[in-house]
Amino acid sequence: MRAIVCPSVPDAPRSPPVPARRTLLKALAAAPVLSALGTHPAGATGPGAAADPAPGIVKPLPPEHFVVRGTNAEARFETFRDTGRITPTDRFFVRNHTSTPVLDAADWTLTIWGDGLHGRHTSVRIDYGQLRDLPAVTRTALIECAGNGRSLYTTQQGEPVTGTPWTLGAVGAAHWRGARLSDVLRLAGIAADAVDIQPRGLDDPFVTGGTDLGRVRRPLPVAKALDDVIVAYEMNGEPLPYDHGHPARLVVPNWVGVASVKWLGDIEVSRRPLSSPWSTDYYRLFGAAHPPGGSAPIGRQTLKSAYELPFGAPLAAGRPHHLTGRAWSALAPVRSVEVSADGGATWQHARLLDRPRAGGWVRWSTSWRPTATGPRTLLSRVTDTAGNVQPERAVHNTQGYLFNAVVRHPVTVE
Ligand code: MTE
Repeated sequence: MRAIVCPSVPDAPRSPPVPARRTLLKALAAAPVLSALGTHPAGATGPGAAADPAPGIVKPLPPEHFVVRGTNAEARFETFRDTGRITPTDRFFVRNHTSTPVLDAADWTLTIWGDGLHGRHTSVRIDYGQLRDLPAVTRTALIECAGNGRSLYTTQQGEPVTGTPWTLGAVGAAHWRGARLSDVLRLAGIAADAVDIQPRGLDDPFVTGGTDLGRVRRPLPVAKALDDVIVAYEMNGEPLPYDHGHPARLVVPNWVGVASVKWLGDIEVSRRPLSSPWSTDYYRLFGAAHPPGGSAPIGRQTLKSAYELPFGAPLAAGRPHHLTGRAWSALAPVRSVEVSADGGATWQHARLLDRPRAGGWVRWSTSWRPTATGPRTLLSRVTDTAGNVQPERAVHNTQGYLFNAVVRHPVTVE
């Protein structure tokens, strides 16, 4: 395979050129056009019209499966009970800073550039065919937004936070197929002393409070980049859907979702640490419990467990109920899940329905026969093999990241 090597330029470009012919159709107009062309990847269209389309999301968002939150779509966690270990593509949450760009793989290129490339080349470009010619690997990995569970800081802990008020559905598991990022970086000639890379998306620049922060980008340490990260071009056996990064995205296992940059356009490789607003202003922990300038940029996700049941679900008294849920940890495989129906006074083990694996989630079930009627709170608590356990309270941070506390799940016994 031969990559296109751009000749050295005296001043290394801070912003390499975007692909020559890039089609940016706004999402609301996109679906009918693409259907007519018959060129849509899986998930861009489907049965049933979008009942409540989010601005900028291409795929249908039926309200029984999604809650639209601004430019994002949260999956209804309780509806995962009728899915398997893998989240079907049409049920996968979408987190967009702006809107989904509708890109054509035939026009797409990935530029790798920066002073962290050795030799005389400051910029290397590969196209979609060249990416697909690299050895392919498949990873089963969760993508979870750092803010998943954010609204629980307020509803459960009474603490104010800023950001999209996700409940628990900003997470999904998929089979991702693509090339190893390490192969891409080595092909480009990454230098031995490179320390950071910075992937950047091709979606519109993110403007907030009147300030243009540029395109979504975030540094990733070279050690992680060369470990288990892939440049994915397939999701669950089909070409990546538009909303999930078509034609190519990063999948960074166990890290906060923002690391998995969609619509990958370029990667800077650097011999010095890099930064962006997504590593300085966002995706750090700020607040009373954290250092004055904030924590280090967040890397790994945390651990969670939850019932696949709507909040406030009515349950009949005097009958056994088969309750199901999921548990996951980005820190180590799940060891056990405990449940409590008496506010945490007593706990019993839930039955694990899957063999725990690093980076995946485990479905679990339990049986509960409520007697007294009235409001009740169900709890679940995961422990992983590294000994991490969900705490009673999450440590507050002003942007509501990494909620990991035991979820207090309200139900009504009737
Ligand atoms: N990449 C780009 N280019 N633009 C984005 O808005 N959102 C990030 C990440 N990659 C984002 C992005 C965030 S915050 C998350 S949680 C994941 O994509 C969500 O991936 P999904 O929409 O495929 O579920």
